Amino acid sequence: MAVKRYTFPNHFLWGAATSSHQVEGNNTGNDWWEWEQAGKLEEVSGLACDHWNRFREDFKMAKSLHHNAHRFSIEWSRVEPEEGEFNQEAISHYQEVVQELKKNGLEPIVTLFHFTLPLWLAHEGGWASHRTPELFARFARKMVESLGADVCYWMTINEPLVYILKSYLMGEWPPGERSYEKSYRVITHFLKGHVAAYDAMKEAAGSSNGPELQIGVAQHVAMFSPCENSWRDRISVWLRNLIFNHLFVKALIQGRIFYPGIFKIKLTRQKTIDFIGLNYYTRDFVQNKGFGIPGVYGDACTSKHHKEAGRKNFLSWEIYPEGLFQLVKDFSRYKLPILISENGICTEHDEERARFIKDHLRELAKAIEWGAPVFGYLYWSLLDNFEWAEGFDPRFGLVEVNYATQERKVRMSAFEYAEICRAGVLEVEES
Ligand code: GAL
Repeated sequence: MAVKRYTFPNHFLWGAATSSHQVEGNNTGNDWWEWEQAGKLEEVSGLACDHWNRFREDFKMAKSLHHNAHRFSIEWSRVEPEEGEFNQEAISHYQEVVQELKKNGLEPIVTLFHFTLPLWLAHEGGWASHRTPELFARFARKMVESLGADVCYWMTINEPLVYILKSYLMGEWPPGERSYEKSYRVITHFLKGHVAAYDAMKEAAGSSNGPELQIGVAQHVAMFSPCENSWRDRISVWLRNLIFNHLFVKALIQGRIFYPGIFKIKLTRQKTIDFIGLNYYTRDFVQNKGFGIPGVYGDACTSKHHKEAGRKNFLSWEIYPEGLFQLVKDFSRYKLPILISENGICTEHDEERARFIKDHLRELAKAIEWGAPVFGYLYWSLLDNFEWAEGFDPRFGLVEVNYATQERKVRMSAFEYAEICRAGVLEVEES
């Protein structure tokens, strides 16, 4: 065994990510809160990590762990609780959040839509409504007018395809729909909303003295392997990769998406994305179920692959670090800067987390050596938090949260990650 040393680029962004509803607490004005109160879940978000009040102490911790960047999301329902009426107190709160990040040497990376909608908009049909792209652009413009002087990195939409899958196809998240027609509408509106927001944000930034905005999306990417090595399964793998991983980013770059018989969406213009955010967690084995829709898309059949699949996390997702290498290489084809905007593990065994981080960073370092234009890595998540329909049981945090007392405890894995962030170097034993 020899020790191999991987050096990350200068000015690499190191940190962690969170999202408003998962950490802030008391987001009573959004559709998730309503969904929880309607008894759709076993656990409700409640006070979550009380990050709304404790962000200063949380950022201090991130700083002490040698992070130099932090991704968070703005809760639209707090900023615009009624249509067209912006709440100055909430805006001031996020201005303070940004100032506090900067004070601690943390580059702010702001997400605008991370799965939650203001109730007034949800009741109008949410992303299925044709008005939402423009309303989203207005909100985005307002945020750049309020924070644009201090924030360079913006992410419009978090994981559009995951949202559609969970909220509009599987009915597991609000609004609990199972409709192809609505899913198609939502993807169209997400794309249009991104383009409208991109233009509005650049315009708003143009009239200020702030930094040149870098605007991206957070694209969830999964590694797909055929269930059997049959041509049928391989066709489904190819299609899944095309739609689930690539469709969104490709559409924004090309200004249109045309997959005969499946998608035909034209946008007003192309190249409305400055960097690509990748959220990577796992691999799925795909089994073809015929050649109609949805059969050709296949089924994710992890259960059949206990032997082939490697170790799993607390939610039974396979841990497959090599996938990060392959996906980052694959996305390099777009010749845009790449940010790993999420990568993480929920586990009850913290040594698994330390291993997860190092294994994934090794794969990322290899991709960078190969030539991939990666400029940062954000672990999901800084804190244990409210994992949507899964509640509080999955523990993703670098920092443990005791939900009864709101006490924070930095985990050993966080210190190991901190050392890598500090040095910009990963040392691993390799045979
Ligand atoms: C992502 C999502 C996060 C978080 C994470 C862990 O899909 O953006 O909000 O829940 O997964 O499952």
